Amino acid sequence: MTEPARKHPPYERHVFICMNERPEGHPRGDCTKRGGQAVLDRFKELVDQHKLKPRIRAQKSGCLDTCELGVSVVVYPEAVWYARVTAADVQEIVESHLVQGVPVERLRMHPSRPRDSGQVGPIGNA
Ligand code: FES
Repeated sequence: MTEPARKHPPYERHVFICMNERPEGHPRGDCTKRGGQAVLDRFKELVDQHKLKPRIRAQKSGCLDTCELGVSVVVYPEAVWYARVTAADVQEIVESHLVQGVPVERLRMHPSRPRDSGQVGPIGNA
């Protein structure tokens, strides 16, 4: 028996942008108040502009548990985490990491983690 054809292949890169919200005054704060919506909107805009669908998907996520470093963003399959991302940073992440496979060092949350170090390769040619 053969597996049914998939409408979309698995994503070559999958970006999660935290959009968690907490009550006003919560000690950990949240990524939405730190500008998560603008970051998410910019990712979606640039993924469209660069015609990266359906190979790459950017979507909102719940809390990634790195709230104090938000806006928190993580890119799989490399598990590269970005901290304090602003809308102004997104173009560099898209063009360097998502397209060319070169993580943006200055924004990385865990630059010394072996699993998310170094170049990870460009996306495939479709
Ligand atoms: S609120 Fe964004 S990581 Fe927790």
